[in-house]
Amino acid sequence: MAAAGYAANLAGPAVVPRSEPYVEAPVRAFAIATVFWGVAGFLVGVLIASQLAWPLLNLDLEWTTFGRLRPVHTSAVIFAFGGNALICTSLYVVQRTCRARLFGGDQMGWFLFWGYQFFIVAAALGYVFGVTQGKEYAEPEWFVDLWLTVVWVHYLVAFGGTILKREEPHIYVANWFYLAFIVTVAMLHIVNNLALPVTLGHAKSYGLASGVQDAMIQWWYGHNAVGFFLTAGFLGMMYYFIPKQADRPVYSYRLSIVHFWSLIFLYIWAGPHHLHYTALPDWAQTLGMVFSVMLWMPSWGGMINGLMTLSGAWDKLRTDPGLRFSVTAVGFYGMSTFEGPVMSIKAVNGLSHYTDWTIGHVHSGAMGWVGFITFGALYWLFPKLWNKRALYSQKLVSWHFWIATMGIVLYITAMWVSGILQGLMWRAYDELGFLQYAFIESVAAMHPYYVIRMMGGVLYLTGALIMVFNLWMTVTRTEAADALPVPAQGGAAPIPAPAE
Ligand code: HEM
Ligand code: HEM
Repeated sequence: MAAAGYAANLAGPAVVPRSEPYVEAPVRAFAIATVFWGVAGFLVGVLIASQLAWPLLNLDLEWTTFGRLRPVHTSAVIFAFGGNALICTSLYVVQRTCRARLFGGDQMGWFLFWGYQFFIVAAALGYVFGVTQGKEYAEPEWFVDLWLTVVWVHYLVAFGGTILKREEPHIYVANWFYLAFIVTVAMLHIVNNLALPVTLGHAKSYGLASGVQDAMIQWWYGHNAVGFFLTAGFLGMMYYFIPKQADRPVYSYRLSIVHFWSLIFLYIWAGPHHLHYTALPDWAQTLGMVFSVMLWMPSWGGMINGLMTLSGAWDKLRTDPGLRFSVTAVGFYGMSTFEGPVMSIKAVNGLSHYTDWTIGHVHSGAMGWVGFITFGALYWLFPKLWNKRALYSQKLVSWHFWIATMGIVLYITAMWVSGILQGLMWRAYDELGFLQYAFIESVAAMHPYYVIRMMGGVLYLTGALIMVFNLWMTVTRTEAADALPVPAQGGAAPIPAPAE
């Protein structure tokens, strides 16, 4: 059915003035916020990477220590950069693929925008001032959590409402991934944050669960934050923007549906791989490992689907550096979803856990997959959202691509070497059975790798600054694309036809 809509779109584009059949202004604001928080998050990343290399940079002030700035970095890149990118693209995509204006209109869009930015600022201020639950990726205290719940329920209503009032009978696969992300994140957020405030007037609270149950719930949350925030939502982006950039239908629509159901079924069980060799019962650890290894298959199915969408259009990689970002992102997705299952095997985790290997894995997924798929989408979206004929400079996109790629390669290779070195140093014994190295020796051995990682971060940040300049010039200096030929049915963009 989507194929029919696609054909109809291509057949009858009428020239109509570009009025706004969709809610666009808040989407534009989300796009700007994505870029802003991205730069802020990468900057704090470079700062904390420098602190690990040169501890003097902690400045001996409680507000600027690594311990407080680390969650500022993780939340800025995941929830502020990633979250704004997801909300921005999901609101853009759902309206177009459903041929329906956002449920709740502009007002809803602006509430989501300001509500979400308020959450980010409140969370970040809390970290700097030491107000935290101490749960990784769920650090904000109860009052910030409550506010996010309000915003998130509105997001679900806006997104779900738009799907319900759609004019396109088919629900395009990208919307399934976005919806899974929105619903699951709501569930994870509520369950992992069930807590009792000490008193109502007090910021501090205590979680309802304790001991190993608390740890299990936390990593059920933490792993699925990876699975649904950093993966499912961005897969929604992949399924919309890669077909658009390549101007080809998704390679196999059937595979995308298999990808969706198998991914969401398997991800939810894999959390215990974060708790190997802990007080968690052994069977639960093994269960987490088995589901993680199984996850390899749908992940690679999705990767193949994304890459094969370029069949017959690979030449576009030479001329469209924005597409290069998206395709390389899918490559990094494949790489990190191969590495993850390997690390979840208990024997391997015995070496990798607590080391920089984990940090390398995180950043190949985060900088390579999440970052690059977002850059690709932003380069595609900005001219569309600001009604411009094209980007200011393709050459600058290419510069961004190569500089950021070099940054990632420096970052992750340094972390692999330092991680494996750490793991091996910690388990080395001398002939009398004593540990061969004192812990501090392993810390000292990391120094060169931390410097290289910091340099990788500087390159990644430089690339992002080039993007800021390019997007700014696109918005302010390039020719408008007024009266573009847009399809007659309410200005909907053609839906990538599923391959039969
Ligand atoms: C300029 C680029 C970046 C730099 C320099 C950087 C640096 C760092 C550093 C130094 C850490 C702390 C590592 C440790 O505790 O040993 C860290 C942690 C982390 N970063 Fe980044 N980062 C960057 C980009 C990103 C991006 C784009 C994302 C996500 C989209 C991200 C997500 C994370 C996460 C999730 C952690 C916590 C990892 C864990 O606990 O295992 N980072 N980063
Ligand atoms: C099939 C997919 C994947 C599997 C099975 C997997 C598995 C793992 C394993 C075993 C760890 C180490 C746990 C530990 O020793 O503490 C880990 C850590 C992590 N992974 Fe993955 N991974 C996958 C994909 C990804 C992707 C695509 C991303 C990012 C976009 C990602 C982000 C992370 C983060 C942020 C952590 C660190 C969590 C923390 O300790 O703070 N993973 N993953």
